[in-house]
Amino acid sequence: MQVLFTAEQLKKRVLELGKQISQDYATTNPVLVCLLKGSVVFLADLMRAIPVPHTVEFLRVSSYGSKTVSSGRVEITDFDADLTGRHVLVIEDIVDTGSTLGYIREYLLGQKPASLRVCALLDKPTARVSGVAIDYFGFTAPDVFVVGYGMDWDERFRHLPYVGIPESQDSA
Ligand code: XMP
Ligand code: MG
Repeated sequence: MQVLFTAEQLKKRVLELGKQISQDYATTNPVLVCLLKGSVVFLADLMRAIPVPHTVEFLRVSSYGSKTVSSGRVEITDFDADLTGRHVLVIEDIVDTGSTLGYIREYLLGQKPASLRVCALLDKPTARVSGVAIDYFGFTAPDVFVVGYGMDWDERFRHLPYVGIPESQDSA
């Protein structure tokens, strides 16, 4: 496993993002909508870096199955939160082609939020095919598959406190 972003780097950047988000949403009680499962570690750290009032919701989304290439198919299941008139901040682990985010944006906009922004830990801009805006992001990532800090390879490696590049499925 090659370390891409250390736990210390992640911690520092998440605190910076939290500070920025707290300033921007100081009085608006935003709702952070966390995309499961990959964003859960990021959310847990980020929400503790946001001292202003906010709520959280979870949206189960799958687009990758157990593979490491985008299938282009996105499914949303069991989302029953009422976002009408709320200031929504989508929390995503990594934006790759952008198709997942594009689909989710349309879905959430259908709920008539007061505003909708996106916060992604990692941005892989070279893989982008869909022009979605990322309002807050932690780091730019190279166009390779990464794991750790919530992100998986076939459900493995989510527990790693850093973000890394697995050498291969067997040796990583
Ligand atoms: P798209 O291509 O729709 O993909 O932007 C975004 C979703 O795919 C997941 N993804 C990854 N997951 N390592 C992962 O563990 C990666 O390198 C990676 N790239 C994309 C991610 O969950 C995101 O929701
Ligand atoms: Mg994800």
